[in-house]
Amino acid sequence: MTVTARAVKEIEGLTDKIQSLAKRRGFVFASSEIYGGAGSTWDFGPLGVELKNNIKRSWWRAMVQVRGDIVGLDGAILMHPKVWEASGHVENFVDPLVECRSCRHRFRIDDLPKGDALMEAWRANTLDVSGTACPNCGERKLADPRKFNLMFKTFVGPVEDTASVAWLRPETAQAVYVNFDNVQQAVRRRLPFGIAQIGKAFRNEITPGNFIFRSREFEQMEMQYFCRPNDAPRLFEEWKEERMRWHRSLGVPAERLRFREHAEDERAHYAARAVDIEFEFPFGWKELEGIHDRTDFDLRRHAEFSGKKLEYFDDLTQERFVPYIVETAVGADRTTYEVLCAAYDEEPDKDGIRTVLRLHPSLAPYKVAVLPLSKNERLSPLAREVHASLRAGFMTVYDETQAIGRRYRRQDEIGTPLCVTVDFDSLEDRAVTIRERDSMAQVRVPIAELVDRVQERLAEV
Ligand code: GAP
Repeated sequence: MTVTARAVKEIEGLTDKIQSLAKRRGFVFASSEIYGGAGSTWDFGPLGVELKNNIKRSWWRAMVQVRGDIVGLDGAILMHPKVWEASGHVENFVDPLVECRSCRHRFRIDDLPKGDALMEAWRANTLDVSGTACPNCGERKLADPRKFNLMFKTFVGPVEDTASVAWLRPETAQAVYVNFDNVQQAVRRRLPFGIAQIGKAFRNEITPGNFIFRSREFEQMEMQYFCRPNDAPRLFEEWKEERMRWHRSLGVPAERLRFREHAEDERAHYAARAVDIEFEFPFGWKELEGIHDRTDFDLRRHAEFSGKKLEYFDDLTQERFVPYIVETAVGADRTTYEVLCAAYDEEPDKDGIRTVLRLHPSLAPYKVAVLPLSKNERLSPLAREVHASLRAGFMTVYDETQAIGRRYRRQDEIGTPLCVTVDFDSLEDRAVTIRERDSMAQVRVPIAELVDRVQERLAEV
């Protein structure tokens, strides 16, 4: 086996293990699985919904709660169709698509061999794919590329005609731009200030894949920061650093994160500058988040298309102008995958391999598992009492099936930071054992102090 082939096998092995754990333990299921799946859409199971909610809470806390300058919004998915004309999506939100005339497979150009060079040629209008072999069947029969709009089209009301066309939003951002004036009137913020939003977005991706990395329905966490034009370059730099700090705060190692600046011909139609935060997934460095300097593009376009002024009036200087926008845009699903990949670990132990999800405690689906030493009618009442005392303060789980060693392993595998074991001594001394996931260290704690001690230990990690 060549080194490259071995590396590919290891990568496939690791991504398979993470995906298999995600399914087996209830993090992520293929949508409509019993019907064979629904084309790259995913359902988050009991543990996945906890993990993703914890990520969204962490984002909201960092972007809204602890700042005085950002407020929230929850915009509708269906918007007036003119929104997407003004935003440029009807015209520009396209991928170049090629189809193989032999096997009928379709590809994005950047998914073909030498994709970066082909994309460059496409942008320069000099693309020729006649010499490129189809990655699926190997034939050199790729048709000329055509533009494919990534927005899902639907119809509002009972008649399916051009007047009733609507689009499923491909980004949450537009609800913020069209509500700029409403929010400004309602909360009267001085510049700079931001509007943050978490919500679903839809893109008819030609080649979705890599599990939840690129899907057709996903959630975005976006923030648009309105500012004076002169302040935009400085704020862009500040937001880059701030967003990188947030990814590290999730427990992701610094060496697996990096910035990548977009070249001029690569930037989206709205961006004067764009930097990605990338994460080293098992399948390579990939975009997690985009930070964009969108200038006054969006507000000007919406003012032009709607006929409504979207301006800021500074009552101190008596200036009236269109603010610039620095945007931070990250996927909640992609961040969930980032966190799963960063946390997944295997280590040898006496029974073979111990699989551990080293999730940051604030993200772990369950913070504490309560485990009676064995399923025994003398232990159960006290164990249930201990569980009840923890439940109000923490996401907990109770498990009394199988041997205690196997139950510890099950909790390690889903990232539960602490296990509390109730044993026969507990009946006498009213104390329990706290076992820590990463070090597997154990300490004995009086039940009367348990809630405080659990709190302390979760905060320590
Ligand atoms: N408003 C700007 C905007 O939407 P983007 O770079 O197209 O920018 C932002 O998207 C983030 O949304 C990406 O960095 C990624 O995390 C997430 N995202 C985009 N397309 C996705 C897809 N098909 N599946 C999962 N996440 C996606």
